[in-house]
Amino acid sequence: MAFAEGRIDGEKVFRGAVFPKTLVPPTAVDSSLESLVETVERERGSITDLLRSHGAVLFRGYDVRSAEEFDRAVRAFGWEETEHVGATTRIKMTDRVYTANEAPVDQLINFHHEMSMMKHSPSKIFFFCCQPASEGGETSIVQSNIVVEKMEERLPEVMAKLSEVGLVSKSKTPRDDEADSEKLINKTWKWIFKTDDEAVGEKRAKEMLNCNSVSFNSDGSADFVFGPSNPIRELGGKRVWFLPFLGYTGNIYDVNHSFGDGSAVPREAFVTYGEVLEENCVDVKWQKGDILLIDNHSVQHARRPGKPPRVILASVCK
Ligand SMILES: [Fe+2]
Repeated sequence: MAFAEGRIDGEKVFRGAVFPKTLVPPTAVDSSLESLVETVERERGSITDLLRSHGAVLFRGYDVRSAEEFDRAVRAFGWEETEHVGATTRIKMTDRVYTANEAPVDQLINFHHEMSMMKHSPSKIFFFCCQPASEGGETSIVQSNIVVEKMEERLPEVMAKLSEVGLVSKSKTPRDDEADSEKLINKTWKWIFKTDDEAVGEKRAKEMLNCNSVSFNSDGSADFVFGPSNPIRELGGKRVWFLPFLGYTGNIYDVNHSFGDGSAVPREAFVTYGEVLEENCVDVKWQKGDILLIDNHSVQHARRPGKPPRVILASVCK
């Protein structure tokens, strides 16, 4: 392959495969955007194989500077785009590129698979570093199949019950007066489903989301019930913890889960899950121009709190 192998601080090895795999230009003269695009186009098959075996691939040391140049790099991989849908604010920069998230950089965004509550979630997500944070702001990644393994080792009874009766998750979209606020989840159901009509909203919710019921409140918020379903899925030959368990803010008291039989999930399950994430994740410390490609069906990502300026862009593929 016309890449050289790189390394990053804090990388880990799972079953003999480094996580993430880091690819750098073979020589300094090969670090142009053109060179990256040509190499990616030529090596699509090997990159797909690497992504499958490593879960995430970091392209570092290439001269990629803008949303337009990142867009060009993304197209070189040849994967079909998909629409970025969700309850957070992103700004469209080019045809295929959005800001990763407009929530203030000092807020944690906890581990999740992108759009995992949707009927169709992207198979891959790209992140691009336009500008690193002055402090913190790492993107952290963890292999969801490792999370399942460790949880089965540590809490076999909880895992057995999850597979037997499933998990019921409740979530709420913001009130009208919280729309576009600095909260991480700041889009109302009217914005997400592009309607003010509750009947149309309910129909679209059931088409787009894996939710079983939705109810609308007079303050503009809506309550969604998901499941019962097993948060562990078999995707791409791996058993992964696909559904969010700790909530996006990282506060275990923000989440509302119960077992499918109505009984409470023990607090220990959330605490252990959080420990497993922290023990097995890798914090990618961004350098300008980095492109991080993640297998969204096997790897979760998170944003560590940081300080501005931090500009990370994203693009998702079907
Ligand atoms: Fe995300």
